[in-house]
Amino acid sequence: MTKKAFITGITGQDGSYLAELLLSKGYEVHGLIRRASTFNTSRIDHLYVDPHDPTAKLFLHYGDLSDGVRLVTLLAEIQPDEVYNLGAQSHVRVSFDEPEHTADTTGTGSIRLLEAVRTAGIRPRFYQASSSELYGATPPPQNEDTPFYPRSPYGAAKLYSYWITKNYREAYDMFAVNGILFNHESPRRGETFVTRKITRAVAAIKAGTQEHLYMGNLDSVRDWGYAAEYVEGMWRMLQVDEPEDFVLATGTAYTVRDFLRISFEHVGLDWEKYVKFDERYLRPTEVDALVGDPSKAEAKLGWKATVQPDQLARIMVDADIKTLECAGTPWIDKVNLASWTPEAVL
Ligand code: NAP
Ligand code: GDD
Repeated sequence: MTKKAFITGITGQDGSYLAELLLSKGYEVHGLIRRASTFNTSRIDHLYVDPHDPTAKLFLHYGDLSDGVRLVTLLAEIQPDEVYNLGAQSHVRVSFDEPEHTADTTGTGSIRLLEAVRTAGIRPRFYQASSSELYGATPPPQNEDTPFYPRSPYGAAKLYSYWITKNYREAYDMFAVNGILFNHESPRRGETFVTRKITRAVAAIKAGTQEHLYMGNLDSVRDWGYAAEYVEGMWRMLQVDEPEDFVLATGTAYTVRDFLRISFEHVGLDWEKYVKFDERYLRPTEVDALVGDPSKAEAKLGWKATVQPDQLARIMVDADIKTLECAGTPWIDKVNLASWTPEAVL
């Protein structure tokens, strides 16, 4: 029997890699997409096959995490075996500008989806995209037992989603798990997250089309992994016998300044000559340091990150240079996820 998966956030960075992974495993994949006046499917266009074609395995459905009734209708229709809740307003800085919208999408959206599963009368396995932002002010290393102390409307909304997922597991005996993922990046990363902002700027500065790069706090420490590997960990969380929460991380600590230095050095430039400060990129409350301890995932899921942040920076710079060379046509990295092992992803 072909397994069916339903993914919210399929048009985002992680959703696109996850769809690719599940299709490579033979799943029928259903994704929730938001209606927009322009196309918003560039990250999954390479996976799309006309649904009239009998080989089509990817199906997209209009909907929104703010629309609970639509979620019930869709889930009752699709009857998925696995549900991945990746949809969210996922930008921490933006969550200070749009706290109510963030709460509605990133927090209440999860309960709408869990309730939709429950009221549709189906029993899929459920993955919630939880975040290392939950730890916030609690110092590293952070693991599944570390206390939470969120520092943003985004972190607070994700905290609600974390607990409500756990509550549905306990209250309704649902196979519902939280993946507590540390920062993960890729050539498909949104352009306003710090790594991609840096690697795009490096490519443009090298090409001579940009002069400076304006940045905020360079002292933050992050644990940056490669998104293509992290979706394998998400899938593995739904394949084990018992529902449990897991941290996915590399376990390494780099500052934003380190990421700048490595990215500029990769094209032979000195970052200090190009980077300027702009206070608009500061946050009212900052998360100083996130460094995960992924040993539980390694022991129980056989999952281990293989791409380290310095290698990731180089992958992303090279990809952004290629995109510029393609003169506007988005260059999409193709990863052989079907044969992923902790030893060899690339
Ligand atoms: P992303 O690239 O920002 O993608 C977010 C996705 O959510 C997009 O497909 C977006 O649709 C969709 N979305 C936003 N609002 C929605 C709504 N109201 N209804 C339905 N869909 C909506 O994020 P990502 O990096 O792939 O991350 C995936 C998930 O993991 C998010 O929940 C994020 O918070 C969480 N997370 C990410 C990281 C990380 O480092 N990447 C770490 C921990 C947790 P559009 O394309 O239409 O905007
Ligand atoms: N975005 C951005 N832009 N961040 C900057 C800048 C800038 O110009 N300058 C410095 N930073 C610092 C931020 O203050 C933060 O400390 C760090 O770079 C990382 O910022 P982001 O890349 O925006 O990511 P994030 O860590 O806030 O959140 C990401 O990771 C979370 C998991 O820990 C997002 O993907 C969240 O959705 C995710 O949950």
